[in-house]
Amino acid sequence: MAGIYIHIPFCKTKCYYCDFYKSTDFGARVDFLSALKKEIIQRKHELGQERINSIYFGGGTPSVLKVSEIRDILDLVSACFQLPADCEITLEANPDDLTALFLNGLNETPVNRLSIGTQSFADSDLKSMNRRHNGDQAVKSVRAAQEAGFSNISIDLIYGLPNQTLELWQLNVEKAISLQVQHISAYHLTYHEGTVFYDYLKSGKVKELPDQLSFDQFKLLKSMLEEAGFEHYEISNFARDGLYSRHNKAYWERKSYLGFGPSAHSFDQKTRRWNVSSLKKYLNGLELGLPYWEHEVLSVQDQYNDYMITTLRTIWGISENYLSDHFGESFLFHFKKEVQPFLASGHVIFANGCYKLTTEGLFISDKIMEKLLFLEEL
Ligand SMILES: C[S@@+](CC[C@H](N)C(=O)[O-])C[C@H]1O[C@@H](n2cnc3c(N)ncnc32)[C@H](O)[C@@H]1O
Ligand code: SF4
Repeated sequence: MAGIYIHIPFCKTKCYYCDFYKSTDFGARVDFLSALKKEIIQRKHELGQERINSIYFGGGTPSVLKVSEIRDILDLVSACFQLPADCEITLEANPDDLTALFLNGLNETPVNRLSIGTQSFADSDLKSMNRRHNGDQAVKSVRAAQEAGFSNISIDLIYGLPNQTLELWQLNVEKAISLQVQHISAYHLTYHEGTVFYDYLKSGKVKELPDQLSFDQFKLLKSMLEEAGFEHYEISNFARDGLYSRHNKAYWERKSYLGFGPSAHSFDQKTRRWNVSSLKKYLNGLELGLPYWEHEVLSVQDQYNDYMITTLRTIWGISENYLSDHFGESFLFHFKKEVQPFLASGHVIFANGCYKLTTEGLFISDKIMEKLLFLEEL
């Protein structure tokens, strides 16, 4: 079972925190759609006969597409790949695009899961991030999606924002729970180089939240969502009724995926490939038959590091058997030596053959990861 990722590289405006590849110039939209279709056709044999378990339209902003364009892409994908009837098909959407007309049309396509970028329900947060919607629109977009018949909805939230008090964050989480969605992704703000927030941080216009307040926000999020019946299955992801993101879960399980569109990544256990993060180079590449991607063959060391990065932050954890079966005894030895201090400090627990992060461990997962990766020359 494999996945397909489709990157739609357009946004109407740029949010101050975001470093995903996108352009606000829609001039090349038609050319992009034909290049995308070309790429899908060219690469249709790359997964062999593997069935597609999930398709994910990410961005950028996939909800800037017309329903007919989304349908056309899906028709092509289903002509080129083996899609089971229950294939999970997610579309990332911005609240301000979710009109009743768009949602009703979308519900007639095979898209069966929406990931709505609400980010916050507080107007002050949304304004500070340069979002195009306000809190009220965020709420209305989720209700409109439910009314249109979508029954598998995820919403995105961001915490750790400058000036975000614990009280304001609590109101956000309460609002999210009241919307009765099936899935919530809540990300701690990262300051990426090249974004407006990064420049603000460097110039002192904003300050990072104190670690303790960030941790309190994380603990509050976790306890409130768990009390409301959500399962915390990955550091930033919570699901009700086992409705995990099938697509993201497959990334964490190291299943194969194909990524189409500029900046999209592909993976087949042994090789990683990434398309150029440039719409112009992508279009030229497909038009003129020039390479528009790079790739690397993964060494065992890379594969071990990949496994750490993708799996450590999930509830399934790092399996001792998987380590020895896939990477051999020397990697298992390295792992067991490096994880020891975190077991002793209570940041990691070992149960049923798997190592998992505790709540305290999840919060410092970057530091733990740094130690567990195998960075020495072999
Ligand atoms: C591809 S992005 C956005 C999709 C869609 N265009 C939108 O804005 O809703 C997916 C999610 O990543 C999260 N995200 C992006 N950049 C982030 C950052 N710097 N820190 C924390 N979360 C971030 C946001 O919650 C966002 O909704
Ligand atoms: S968060 Fe979404 S809308 Fe904002 S710039 Fe990033 S991809 Fe575009």
